[in-house]
Amino acid sequence: MALNYISAKEAAALINHNDNVGFSGFTHAGCPKVVPKELAKRAEEEHSKGNPFKIGIFTGASSGDSLDGSLARANAVKFRTPYQTNKDMRNAINNLDHDPIVYFDIHLSQLAQEIRYGFLGGVDIAVVEACEVTESGEIVPTSGVGITPTICRLAKIVIVELNSRVPKKLRGIHDIYELQDPPKRRHINIFEVQSRIGLEYVKVDTQKIFVVETDAENEGGHFTPVDEITSKIGENVANMFVSEMKKGDIPPTFLPIQSGVGNIANAVLGAMGNNKNIPRFEVYTEVIQDAVLDMMRQGNISFTSGCSLTLSNEAMDKFYLDLDFFKNKLVLRPSEISNNPEIVRRLGIIGINTAIEADIFGNINSTHVMGTNMMNGIGGSGDFTRSAYLSVFVTPSTAKGGMISAIVPKVTHEDHSEHSVKILVTEYGVADLRGKGPYARAEEIIEKCAHPDYRPLLHEYVSLTKKGHTPQNLYACFAFHQAFLETGDMKNADLRRYLK
Ligand code: COA
Repeated sequence: MALNYISAKEAAALINHNDNVGFSGFTHAGCPKVVPKELAKRAEEEHSKGNPFKIGIFTGASSGDSLDGSLARANAVKFRTPYQTNKDMRNAINNLDHDPIVYFDIHLSQLAQEIRYGFLGGVDIAVVEACEVTESGEIVPTSGVGITPTICRLAKIVIVELNSRVPKKLRGIHDIYELQDPPKRRHINIFEVQSRIGLEYVKVDTQKIFVVETDAENEGGHFTPVDEITSKIGENVANMFVSEMKKGDIPPTFLPIQSGVGNIANAVLGAMGNNKNIPRFEVYTEVIQDAVLDMMRQGNISFTSGCSLTLSNEAMDKFYLDLDFFKNKLVLRPSEISNNPEIVRRLGIIGINTAIEADIFGNINSTHVMGTNMMNGIGGSGDFTRSAYLSVFVTPSTAKGGMISAIVPKVTHEDHSEHSVKILVTEYGVADLRGKGPYARAEEIIEKCAHPDYRPLLHEYVSLTKKGHTPQNLYACFAFHQAFLETGDMKNADLRRYLK
């Protein structure tokens, strides 16, 4: 059947106020660009006529500025899930002065199934970026997959942004598979990082497809160059892995690595590549950043499975040029497979994620600054951390020029608990929490990870609150944060003020 080609403006007109719209992609990778921008214009036009226009947005993870940025600026969002990193979206979520956006922060592996279970009100329209769409309804995604198979199957209308900038020969890099729902779910047939279990494309009923042609550019940013602190964190992680191998706690063939998002994660991988004692390894992760491709070219990484190619624009262009090299060494999967806890535990994945703050017992806050303002979201960090062979968290020991200690008596929001976190690393060292009780954990974290300026205060907290299984005082545990809010410096924390 011949495909139905329409303009971006016509596509935006198919979307109604209050619709739930599912978008392809994961991070900026693989996200539609021209239809969301037209949709933002449409919302502004409707608002200027006094009409309401807001939609629910479902994506694989965060998205590009054309999507989250444009729609947040147009005040066109009623609901957002599961993750975001856009400045304007973040401000809109945290700002209660105008209509707040309902932000549902959820483990990325769970979103597709929660949509299928009907927990989130259904998906009316899917908007997906593709490098190829055939007359038999085969849609080949671009650089990110996310929840694409689920939204394409469930939506009444599927708008395909066919992007000619992405080479059609990307076909073959994806492994598209959707899970069955309980009580009929089966095990996932992935027993090795390289296993393939699905199709090269998403199959959709042609009658519901509308195609919008585009040549919009990838929206990748740049990574901040590695600095003294991030490079020291990377070195500490790499050296810890080498000593774990020497002890026999990590097998000599190594285990697959998952590495989180952002500059620190990129620096950690770089340090692993520079360490001659770490053997060639595999990556089973969600986000494939620039450092992974460099390490594959250098032979440090033999195979990579992920959900998206979250690359800078230069790295993306280079990747397309080297596609023949990568084709049999890299696979892109939907997020419910790339982040699936069943596979994480089976493959023995070593998970490395970044914390905003950690407490002296190993609980981690990845999402909320000072316990109130949303930064990005939990993302896939929980999917991996809870089930990992070895779960590692990394963070610089301080933030905001040393005025904030990333090691605190108690986290102001808890994303990952002490029960799941095994290793904590800062530029000062590595705290190994395995097999340790609360007092020993506190000693290990303060001495190995905290900034020296904060160590006396943290020790004072433990000695003043020494009581029961876990030394904790419900008045004093946030004295560090209170001091920052009142004086701009956590070093002014006056623990005794709360303990009188
Ligand atoms: N208090 C206040 N602000 C803090 C802070 C703290 N304890 N720790 C970090 N910050 C601020 C930094 O100052 C920086 O602010 P800026 O943007 O104004 O410069 C910002 O948080 C980002 O920190 P940065 O050190 O640059 O780290 P990053 O870019 O690697 O991001 C996270 C760190 C935690 C925000 C990010 O990794 C994240 O969102 N993680 C959760 C999701 C996740 O782990 N996904 C991966 C799963 S595969």
